[in-house]
Amino acid sequence: MAIIAMVSAKGSPGVTTTALACALSWHRRTVLAECDPAGGSVLSGYLSRLEIPPIGLLPLAAAALRDELADTFAHQLVDLDATNPGQRLVLPGINDTIQAGTIRPTWEPLTAFFSQLERHEPGYDVIADCGRLTTSAPPWPLLIRADLLLLVVRASTLRTIAPAVGTADMLRRELTQYGQGPGALALVLIGDGPYGRRDIEQRLQLPALFELPDDRRTAEVLSDGGGRLRGTERLLRAVASAEPAVRDTIARRRAHLAPTSSEGISRA
Ligand SMILES: Nc1ncnc2c1ncn2[C@@H]1O[C@H](COP(=O)(O)OP(=O)(O)OP(=O)(O)O)[C@@H](O)[C@H]1O
Ligand SMILES: [Mg+2]
Repeated sequence: MAIIAMVSAKGSPGVTTTALACALSWHRRTVLAECDPAGGSVLSGYLSRLEIPPIGLLPLAAAALRDELADTFAHQLVDLDATNPGQRLVLPGINDTIQAGTIRPTWEPLTAFFSQLERHEPGYDVIADCGRLTTSAPPWPLLIRADLLLLVVRASTLRTIAPAVGTADMLRRELTQYGQGPGALALVLIGDGPYGRRDIEQRLQLPALFELPDDRRTAEVLSDGGGRLRGTERLLRAVASAEPAVRDTIARRRAHLAPTSSEGISRA
């Protein structure tokens, strides 16, 4: 795997909760990058019991201006799992939406850096929480170059599904024109309601890569902190069982996008 970006249309369907659940449950070394221009929430939520100095995206943006992003990156991370150091890290986001302008020039070099992080020793996948697309400055370089872009939708009512129609269209267009192609885009459906998976896939013209249950108690620990997680909760089990589908999709897309050897010869 490499870069998996998650985004929403509007409202708060559960992007941060889902991204954190994936970072805590999946097997490979992972950096959860809080790239929401409206601000990160892991330090004030899931990790709120810890005293953490002001590190993360903002100091990284300053380092990027000095061309020191790669040297500074490792110092801007917080470990999510004290029992297994270095496996699950978080790059804290900005803490004020006013800082969104400051980090805007960083998306380009940060995306390039993330793209090769899986080949580092040790290598990391990146799960990027990109927030909602209604913010003034979405992290476009990250969204269009992610190996997989997941549009998170709460499946409970038409009110929560309808805003995703226009967003899905826009993302498809952007990916077709500038990015990894429309096949990089898929849905994550949260909870259920009167509309089934097929209905929603048809309405949004997108496949659902995985579905997560409504699991308020577990979600609250992830979004607001307090309480302990064992990994056996419904939400975490569902996230863990979605990992193979995510890996397969990325592997198939890479195989499809890679030039064949005959193409290589004819270009030479
Ligand atoms: N699978 C779930 N089951 C039940 N509740 C959930 C689930 N996922 C998230 N929630 C709850 O929904 C609320 C919003 O979640 P979260 O902050 O992750 O959304 P978001 O999309 O990141 O929102 P924002 O765009 O405001 O950052 C939180 O109270 C969280 O506990
Ligand atoms: Mg969020």
